[in-house]
Amino acid sequence: VALDSFNTLRLPARAAWFAAVDSVDGLRAILDDPRIQGLPRLVIGGGSNLVLAGDFPGLVLHVAFHGRTRVQEDAEAFYIRAGGGENWHDFVRWTLEMGWPGLENLSLIPGTVGAAPVQNIGAYGLEMAEYFYSLRAYDLETGKTVGFDKRDCAFGYRDSFFKQAGKGRYLIAAVTFRLPKKWKPVTGYVDVSRELEAQGIAAPTPLQLSDAVIAVRRRKLPDPAEIGNAGSFFKNPVVSAEDHARLAAAHPGLPSYPQADGRMKLAAGWLIEQAGWKGRRLGPVGCYEKQALVLVNHGGATGADVLAASVAVRLDVRARFGVDLEAEPVFVGSA
Ligand code: EPU
Repeated sequence: VALDSFNTLRLPARAAWFAAVDSVDGLRAILDDPRIQGLPRLVIGGGSNLVLAGDFPGLVLHVAFHGRTRVQEDAEAFYIRAGGGENWHDFVRWTLEMGWPGLENLSLIPGTVGAAPVQNIGAYGLEMAEYFYSLRAYDLETGKTVGFDKRDCAFGYRDSFFKQAGKGRYLIAAVTFRLPKKWKPVTGYVDVSRELEAQGIAAPTPLQLSDAVIAVRRRKLPDPAEIGNAGSFFKNPVVSAEDHARLAAAHPGLPSYPQADGRMKLAAGWLIEQAGWKGRRLGPVGCYEKQALVLVNHGGATGADVLAASVAVRLDVRARFGVDLEAEPVFVGSA
């Protein structure tokens, strides 16, 4: 089965076996199939944070658990659950239209509900972890369904248990969010506040804020439907206060954001642009011309091409700034 339409970087890869699963019973039946015993397994949602090195010799499980519902409501909050296979952006818009605000800053992020906790998606001053309540996952090792609360997930910046110790082991079937009834717009991010200002909106509704975020994203980020990409390709690096002081002295204009622990987060996109990579290509892969942090497939790239370009970018940034960039997407195969 060709995986081209299951990875937004549009890398050519085939899976020896492929199954879309929409129920635990269906999943069990597939996993019991004698033909796939002992083969590696790979869980794919929207494939928007994935670098496929090549063909996958095992079973690809495409998460197709659906359904969206309000499971509970108390004095403080709405509890909203969605199947892991639901499209993330459609889910966000649906919550807003239903009158359950909170997720609007995460509008238009590609991918699925089930993939959102894996890398704790975030944008414009909000991380998914903020409104995450719990999830249900299928443990591919034990064959049992397990519940995870927020602590179990060990969320960090673009990170969770599912990218660390739990990597590759779970299929996230459903996620529940806790959306507080008391709502305040998060408009601290300069791109968003400027957009609202340009539209003459002083006190946005949740849907207006969502629309503003959508406008900003459309302007800056490539649409995976038009040009292959996996969003930000590197995490924004966090450095010590001393390293930051040294860098800031040598590089006026260095953007940085203080962290709770006293360290400083740098803007990887700025470092990459300064290293001369904005809009530059290595073979069929390059840094996007409007946002250097995004690697794009200009057509015909393989996983090896993506790896080669990402290594070249990383080496140049290290040579110029002494800062190591860490990739954000999940690599599958030898890449
Ligand atoms: N910058 C440059 N040149 C560039 C890109 C950025 O100088 O080519 C500078 C900007 O001027 C700004 C700073 O870097 O001062 C930050 O840029 P931006 O606001 O575009 O955000 P980012 O740090 O590059 C992060 C997330 C995005 C998220 C945006 C908005 C990461 C790795 N990326 O990008 O998330 O949408 O903030 O909140 O944290 C993703 O994870 O895939 C993703 C797209």
